[in-house]
Formats: sequence, structure tokens, C-alpha cells
Amino acid sequence: MTFLSDGDADSGAAPCEAPVARHLLPDSAAVTAAGRLEVADLDVTALADEFGTPLFVYDEATLRARCRQLVDAFGPGNAYATKAFLCRAMARLALEEGLRLDVSTEGEFRVALSAGAGGDQIVFHGNNKSDAELAAVVGLGGARIVVDSFDEIARLARLVGAPGQHAAQRVLVRVNPGIEAHTHEFIATGREDSKFGFSVASGAAQAAIYTLRDLAGVEVVGVHAHIGSQIMRLESFARAAEVLAPLAVAGGLAELCVGGGLAVAYLSDESAPTIAEWAAAITAACGGAGLTPGVRVCVEPGRAIVATAAMTCYRVGTIKELPGIRNYVAIDGGMSDNPRPVLYGSGYEAFLPRAVTAERPYPARIVGKHCESGDVVVAEARLPADVAVGDVLVTPVTGAYGFSMASNYNRLGRPAVVFVRDGRARCVVRRETVGDLLRLEP
Ligand code: LLP
Repeated sequence: MTFLSDGDADSGAAPCEAPVARHLLPDSAAVTAAGRLEVADLDVTALADEFGTPLFVYDEATLRARCRQLVDAFGPGNAYATKAFLCRAMARLALEEGLRLDVSTEGEFRVALSAGAGGDQIVFHGNNKSDAELAAVVGLGGARIVVDSFDEIARLARLVGAPGQHAAQRVLVRVNPGIEAHTHEFIATGREDSKFGFSVASGAAQAAIYTLRDLAGVEVVGVHAHIGSQIMRLESFARAAEVLAPLAVAGGLAELCVGGGLAVAYLSDESAPTIAEWAAAITAACGGAGLTPGVRVCVEPGRAIVATAAMTCYRVGTIKELPGIRNYVAIDGGMSDNPRPVLYGSGYEAFLPRAVTAERPYPARIVGKHCESGDVVVAEARLPADVAVGDVLVTPVTGAYGFSMASNYNRLGRPAVVFVRDGRARCVVRRETVGDLLRLEP
């Protein structure tokens, strides 16, 4: 059994032609003597044959390792942001590993409950929570609500303190720290011009804290910020922590949550900070900003927990070589199972799991099967020279915001999801069928 190493990818051929870098693959990935990729001791091409394509394959070892790194680095009280990837199996796994579940709709909330989450394990977010959502969370008891607007405070006031409410409703105040995080405009959330949270600069955050504290039936447990997603620079988190710390101290609050947003590497030549480095930067900034030791500092990442754990397997259906223009390799999914390239211009690697250590000299644009030219999965991919129709093709690092943002565009059923562990694969979400698609129509 040969293992790829990060060094392999950096040496020899140009990075794009070299085999995919080891750090983009799940922890349990290994390469056989024949150059085939295995995950959790299972042949990846054979998984695609068995479960069909497109297929999301999640390595449980990676998921659990990331959860444990989070608890080791930050201690208890952190949440997993379920919007990145949610199904019952994932929710159970995060709960087993000691994380709370950040949910932001009734749908995510109900999946979390159906996975066994108790009130204390739920953190409910959203800039526009419905009355029904608020009532459901308050009714559960013990959950945390991250309050986002003065309208929400007014609606909460009507719900809490009712006869029968067992304990004070815990809330955190979503603060907009006014930080320009360096990431794509659509996933930056912490600057002044934002639909999220209460601005610190305008005094709204402080006003929200005091208004909530005066409300009978409410306990203000902390302040919260989320400055964006896929953030590579740890200084951005440090700046956010420095804004939150004085608020927590002044308000005598017990919790300070810096949200999610830690980036992952998507391309062979990228590297992202580790969870431990993230924690060190936030802890140092909190200390420097005078945070009192009793305040619990926590986070709620999504991407950093699940992205690298998964890869998507596709089947190559057609190859079109346009002389002097480019080669098109078409796979059986596309923007419906991974809208990120179209939405954010996100880059991905691609490789053939039957030859994962092969050089990739063949330039190609990997496109999906949807009826539009913008349906691109990898704009400038490199593949082994012998790529052929019928091959299983893999894009790594698709565990976050792929399945969770999947659509039925062109009435394509959403892919199946399998979890692999110790030589066994279990289907945790089955593939959508045409019957599923027709079920909603009378
Ligand atoms: N907490 C809150 C309040 C959030 O809004 C988010 C993500 C997270 C935590 C988790 O952030 P993460 O650790 O995953 O970066 N669809 C985009 C990402 C949108 C993120 C939305 N909020 C993408 O595919 O890049």
C-alpha cells in the first residue's frame, strides 16, 4: 500500500499536472500498489459501481477527527453548523462527538431533533425566523436562540414568560462586528452593510443586549458573531474576537461565540489553517482584549468539519475534443450537486480513482449534464491522458455545501450519500428517484 504525501504533489511535474495532493483527500485515504484509491479500506471506483453516481462518499474517520480536534482546541460548548451538510447520520455523529447543532430553519431543527438532539444541544440561528420557528424552539426548552433583530426581540417577548415555560429562554445576541473578511462577497457576513446581526458601531448591539436583559423569561448568555465563510486569514477572526470581548465583559455574559468560517484547502497548492491554529489565534485575541477567564469562548464551524471528509464520484459520459479550443469531459451530475463553482467561482481538483497517483497532463473542462453552458464543475482541470468514457471521476473536498445546496434542476434526482468506516459502507441518504420528484404533485 502506497500513501500519497504532500511532498509528492509538490515535486516533479507542475502542480496542476501532478497527482492530486494528499491533504485534499480524507484521512483514511490510501493508494494500493496498483494505484487505486481506497477510503476506509474500500475501493472508491467499486463504491461508485455499487451505489451508482453521482455519489457523495464521506469518511467517518475524518468527520470524527475534525470534531475531536474542535473539542480539544476549544473545550466543550461548540456547535457544528448543519447548513454545511445535514442528514440524521451526520447530526448523530456530531452529537456523539460532543458538539451542539447550529440550525437555522425549522427543517434543520426537525432533522436535529429526529437525530436525538436535546434542547441544550440546539443553537437556533436566522435573520428572519418565523413565529412558528421561534415558538417551536421556545417550546422545546433549553435551546439557545441567537437573536438577530429588534423585530425578533419583540416577537420573542410575546412568546416567553408564558405560563408553563419551564426555564428562562437562553439567547445570544448576534453582533455585526464590522469586519471585512477576505472572502467571496456572497459569503462575507460581518461587515457593516449586512442583513445579519446588530451593529456594534451604531450601538445597536449594546441596545439589544440591554433590551433582552430587561425581558422577563429571557437569559442573555452570550454574544455571537459570524464574519463569513472560507476565511483563510486568522487575523479576521482575531479582529472579531476583539470586538466581541468588551461586549461580553461589559454585559457580564458567560459565552462568546466567534461563529464559523474557517477555510479549507480545495486545490493542491492551497493550505488552510488548522483548527488548533484557529483556536490559538482566537484565544490570544480574547486574552489581549481583556476577556475575563470565566467567559467560555466557542465556535460553530461547518466547512472545516465536513468538507475534506467527502468526495463526489461521477461517471464520465462523453468526451468532446474541440481542436484549438478545449476538451470537454462531461459527467453525470453538475451544478445540481455542486453549485459552488457557478455561484462563487470556486475551484476544485479532479482525478480518476483507478489511477490516483497518475500524472494529469490532459487539460479538460469538466462539465455537467444540465442544459446550460455555465454548468461547469472544474473550469481548468487536468486528468490522466487515458481518461475515457465510462471512467469514474472524483472531485475531492465536496463535503460542505454540496449535498446541502443540491437542487433538482432539470428534474435530476439528488445523489445518494454513503458513510464509510473500517471497510464498510452504509447508505445514509438514498438517491432520489423520479417517484420522489413526482410525489409532491397531486
Ligand atoms: N454560523 C453561522 C451563523 C453561519 O451563517 C455559517 C455559515 C456558519 C456558522 C458556518 O460557516 P462555515 O464554517 O461553514 O464557513 N454556501 C457557501 C457558504 C455559506 C455559509 C453560510 N453560513 C459556500 O458554499 O461557500
